[in-house]
Amino acid sequence: MKHPSGDVSFRILDAAIKRYQYQQDALIEILHSAQDLFGYLDTNLLLYIAHSLKLPPSRVYGVATFYHLFSMVPKGVHHCVVCTGTACYVKGADALLSTVEQFAHLHAGETTANQQFSISTARCLGTCGLAPIVVIDDRVHGYQTPGLLRDRLRPLSRRIDTEV
Ligand code: FES
Repeated sequence: MKHPSGDVSFRILDAAIKRYQYQQDALIEILHSAQDLFGYLDTNLLLYIAHSLKLPPSRVYGVATFYHLFSMVPKGVHHCVVCTGTACYVKGADALLSTVEQFAHLHAGETTANQQFSISTARCLGTCGLAPIVVIDDRVHGYQTPGLLRDRLRPLSRRIDTEV
């Protein structure tokens, strides 16, 4: 199936779906590919995936909303990713996630109302030797502690509070 928009991102998504041979079991991997391509998963995108895999839309929506790795809203101008993969988890990823959630008054997968800041989690960012890892605005920070993270986030606090 081809997306009528001809959007190149949909063509790349189609190739990913084809690579997984349209297997319904590959839904999570395909949702990851879609989120990587589009930044977040909106309703039209979920319907497209459901149609491509011949799955009920309710099933695709249910999976996308169950895992907080997936975001249904666009990312903020500033974005923080906390790795919650095994290596980071055993070294305190939970405390890091709580730190950033308290800082921004958000939960993972959410964006502030003024679209300035969002939080997400990742399964493994491939740099486990630096665990625990946090990525802020695409910059990787290893060996994080709640205190170090609070210091890194502090310069962003004004933007979150005041920019609309
Ligand atoms: S588990 Fe966090 S980088 Fe691998």
